[in-house]
Amino acid sequence: MNDCCSDFRKITFLTYLLLLPAFLAFSWTASLAQDAAADSTATEASGGGDDGSGIPSSPEAIAEGESIFNNNCTVCHAINQVVVGPALAGVENRWENLETLVAFISNSQKVIQGGNEYAVNLYNEYNKTLMPAFSDYSDEQILNIVGYIKAEAAKPAQAETPTGGGGEGGEQVVNGGGGIPSGYLTAIIVGLLVVLVLILLVLVLIISVLTRFLNQKQDLDEADREVINQKVDVQKVAKSRPFIGIMLFIFLAITVKLVLDGLYSVGVQQGYQPKQPIPFSHALHAGQYEIECQYCHTGVMKAKSANIPSANICMNCHQQIKTESPQIQKIYAAIDFDPETQTYGDNQKPIEWVRIHNLPDLAYFNHAQHVNVGGLECQTCHGEIQEMEVVYQQSELTMGWCINCHRETQVNAEDNAYYDKLLELHNTENPKEPMKVEDIGGLECSKCHY
Ligand code: HEC
Ligand code: HEC
Ligand code: HEC
Ligand code: HEC
Ligand code: HEC
Ligand code: HEC
Repeated sequence: MNDCCSDFRKITFLTYLLLLPAFLAFSWTASLAQDAAADSTATEASGGGDDGSGIPSSPEAIAEGESIFNNNCTVCHAINQVVVGPALAGVENRWENLETLVAFISNSQKVIQGGNEYAVNLYNEYNKTLMPAFSDYSDEQILNIVGYIKAEAAKPAQAETPTGGGGEGGEQVVNGGGGIPSGYLTAIIVGLLVVLVLILLVLVLIISVLTRFLNQKQDLDEADREVINQKVDVQKVAKSRPFIGIMLFIFLAITVKLVLDGLYSVGVQQGYQPKQPIPFSHALHAGQYEIECQYCHTGVMKAKSANIPSANICMNCHQQIKTESPQIQKIYAAIDFDPETQTYGDNQKPIEWVRIHNLPDLAYFNHAQHVNVGGLECQTCHGEIQEMEVVYQQSELTMGWCINCHRETQVNAEDNAYYDKLLELHNTENPKEPMKVEDIGGLECSKCHY
């Protein structure tokens, strides 16, 4: 074989070698793209400076707006949800101009008494609930709040439609993470693929030009020509056993994965967040006003079931608090209470709270065992309820979830005479390991199944 052909081989080899870094670069940029996409949504939201609408959009302004909003407004407002006051998304478009909006936030009563039609209607719609004045803040600071509201509203919703579990409309599934809009990611990946295909085309072109060039040379022997003109026989490859084997394997793997995922999610309602008949906020009651969970969920310490409070418990406070609110009047309606005469009628019908956490009948779960005896926090299983405006199911509530925790969690045996004997027995048998729930029978079928 002469020089020219070994050179040709080197070039072909180099071409394929080039493909490797190209692929590596591709996967690297793809992972970068994720971050970039996340950033780009952030910068898109904040933009730079003022976008001409008069609403500030610089990151600093939005940060200031956010902090004022979180300190003063979240008690009554959320961006996409009615709390005590209206959902604020798009509020900048609802008012005739920005000045009136700023004036309203600064001192809502002044604007309402000034006779602004929109403000008066809104005030009546919200049953004349007073929004406190915020005139301590400058107009600029209030504009920053509006900037924050606008930026926040522009963010893609973090909630998706539910995967399972019927119920009424308007329910949402919270998918936990912030996440990047998948549209961005696909666009970037498609772009990268196009670039990759272009690189490939150029490489193929180089090879074919070289092949032609070498074929024109006269001083080549048969062996060399064979090397130059060898083709990949697609049909042969497609029919070869290894190829069919690999394809079959990939196909089977994907099918098995899909089937398993499907089976595992049967009956799993993680993220279930139904709309409740009264927008009762745990963030307000358990978070801001720090009312103990047990005050309402009276069963947790002593019974299997935690209980949903009856309207009488609400009345301990709401006989006096917020009596004019339409939401509170729903409580009055449920127990047929007349706030004028302060008397109860006998036409009572319970508030129909939509149940969120629900194990199938075949499983037995006891709150007192876990909270009282086991000393577990509600948040371990239910998440940060005291921060939720609307409760959703945080944990999977599958058998695997129960079992995993029983394998990992140490029994709270301190000051519990019931466990003295068991602990003694455990420590003589297995002195190194702490006593886990599984060691006291937490994995026995009959403990959890009737
Ligand atoms: C005590 C509860 C409460 C607090 C705190 C509160 N608001 Fe309000 N807000 C309301 C109510 C209620 C309304 C409906 C109008 C009314 O009743 O005056 C409202 C209306 C609004 C509106 C008009 C909404 C629309 O749909 O046009 C804006 C804007 C607004 N509030 C912004 C704020 C901002 C910004 C803060 C914090 C600085 C804040 N609010 C704090 C209760 C509150
Ligand atoms: C003022 C009364 C009150 C307090 C205090 C309270 N809750 Fe609730 N809780 C309710 C009501 C009413 C519901 C039903 C409506 C709903 O889901 O929001 C509920 C629902 C729940 C649910 C969902 C129940 C279901 O249907 O599966 C959980 C879990 C829960 N609360 C946990 C807690 C925890 C944890 C705390 C303490 C951090 C707490 N609650 C404090 C009244 C209260
Ligand atoms: C320990 C006292 C207490 C109990 C018990 C209580 N609440 Fe409240 N609730 C409050 C306070 C305080 C507020 C905030 C009032 C305000 O914004 O001025 C409030 C606000 C509300 C609001 C918002 C009303 C509005 O339109 O502004 C709703 C709805 C509500 N509670 C429902 C309930 C329900 C349902 C129960 C029973 C499961 C309940 N609360 C039990 C103290 C209580
Ligand atoms: C070990 C996990 C775990 C802990 C800790 C826990 N829960 Fe639960 N909770 C559950 C499960 C599982 C259900 C569903 C029970 C069912 O369907 O039988 C549930 C259901 C509920 C419900 C719905 C009504 C009911 O009783 O079925 C409420 C309310 C509730 N929990 C409140 C609480 C409160 C308040 C605490 C803390 C004092 C708490 N939970 C601690 C796992 C837990
Ligand atoms: C966060 C951890 C955790 C989760 C999740 C959990 N458990 Fe437990 N469980 C415990 C602990 C800790 C104990 C031991 C309590 C004690 O000291 O008796 C326990 C005890 C029990 C017992 C009594 C066992 C015995 O031998 O006395 C049963 C039954 C049980 N759990 C059922 C369940 C079921 C059903 C689920 C799922 C729906 C579940 N648990 C989820 C931590 C957990
Ligand atoms: C720590 C509690 C616990 C123990 C121990 C436990 N299970 Fe379960 N099991 C559950 C819960 C909770 C469910 C319901 C899960 C769901 O709805 O996804 C369940 C569901 C099931 C189901 C129905 C499956 C389905 O998807 O509906 C079967 C069958 C089952 N368990 C069998 C067993 C057997 C057999 C054992 C003993 C080897 C056992 N379990 C031990 C808690 C437990």
